[in-house]
Amino acid sequence: MRTPILPPTPMGIQHAARLLGQGLLVAIPTETVYGLAADARNGQAVAGVYQVKGRPSFNPLIVHVADLDAAAEIAHLTPAARALAQRFWPGALTMVLPLRSDARIASLVTAGLDTVAIRVPAHPVARALLAAFGGPVAAPSANISGRISPTRVDHVTDPEGGLDGLIAGAVDGGACRVGLESTIVGWDDDGTPRLLRPGGIDLPPLEWVLGQPLRQENPTAEGSTPKPSAPGQLSSHYAPRALVRLNADAARDGEFLLGFGPVPGDISLSPRGDLTEAAANLFAMLREADDRSAGTRIAVAPIPDDGLGLAINDRLRRAAAPR
Ligand code: TXA
Ligand code: MG
Repeated sequence: MRTPILPPTPMGIQHAARLLGQGLLVAIPTETVYGLAADARNGQAVAGVYQVKGRPSFNPLIVHVADLDAAAEIAHLTPAARALAQRFWPGALTMVLPLRSDARIASLVTAGLDTVAIRVPAHPVARALLAAFGGPVAAPSANISGRISPTRVDHVTDPEGGLDGLIAGAVDGGACRVGLESTIVGWDDDGTPRLLRPGGIDLPPLEWVLGQPLRQENPTAEGSTPKPSAPGQLSSHYAPRALVRLNADAARDGEFLLGFGPVPGDISLSPRGDLTEAAANLFAMLREADDRSAGTRIAVAPIPDDGLGLAINDRLRRAAAPR
């Protein structure tokens, strides 16, 4: 059976909340990317998320809640975490925090870790749904593990490579405004904040609120305790079918070129060289490039490595990684 697309109306949202309450899976819009939502308290529902995505079950999920109070029922909010929450929630920030021992969260959500990734999304439809549902929602991006994240509902229900027929519904919330997953911040044992994944919120404002720089080097050096694998550490990720070549100033024979700024390309992430626009276009245009190159070869123009460019280049490097 095909997956019904639900409208972002009160009725559509009520229906989606009911499906979640029945332990079913529903794709929901957030301002970053579409999420594959399940009741975070229901272990069976959460198991379904891993199964549908084909996701390795050691890779934990993000819990989405309505507000700071709901977050505080699940995680210990340190003063630094509260400061970030006050400034950036609702929004594209996920924090990895100590899990409360009395949190009512299925252990599969955290893959058995003693920390939990948590976020308050800003998308009005996500907020309405969380209010209607009244509980925490576990949601990874609504794509098959390792493939391109969805930024429109038709990406989610794409009969080729999407989740059509595998989930109970998909709520249409339009195109995702940010277009890249949330920025994930955690804290090392010594209390130093660490960037676990670059994303929709750029680093300087985070560091400003924290009053210190985020650690970014890989936690592999001697003296560091083994950390839960940082998000998307599996290097091949966000992968189109086509081979991807980066930092291309021009297309080579047979390549479909994704442009940016001065490099026009076959289509452009942002003709005026705007990183926010490029982020919002990235995943949809990678899909388009994949289709129009018939899954053969994609080249991508250079993207400056600052601001949101850090997160864009992170995704592009993974899309281009050997697989
Ligand atoms: O914008 C987003 O973050 C989207 C929307 C749907 O909210 N979600 C998303 O989820 O990107 P996902 O599952 O694709 O990525 C979540 C990442 C994973 O790579 C996982 O490793 C990391 O968060 N993560 C979750 N819990 C963690 C934990 N306790 N410690 C370290 N990393 C964790
Ligand atoms: Mg993902």
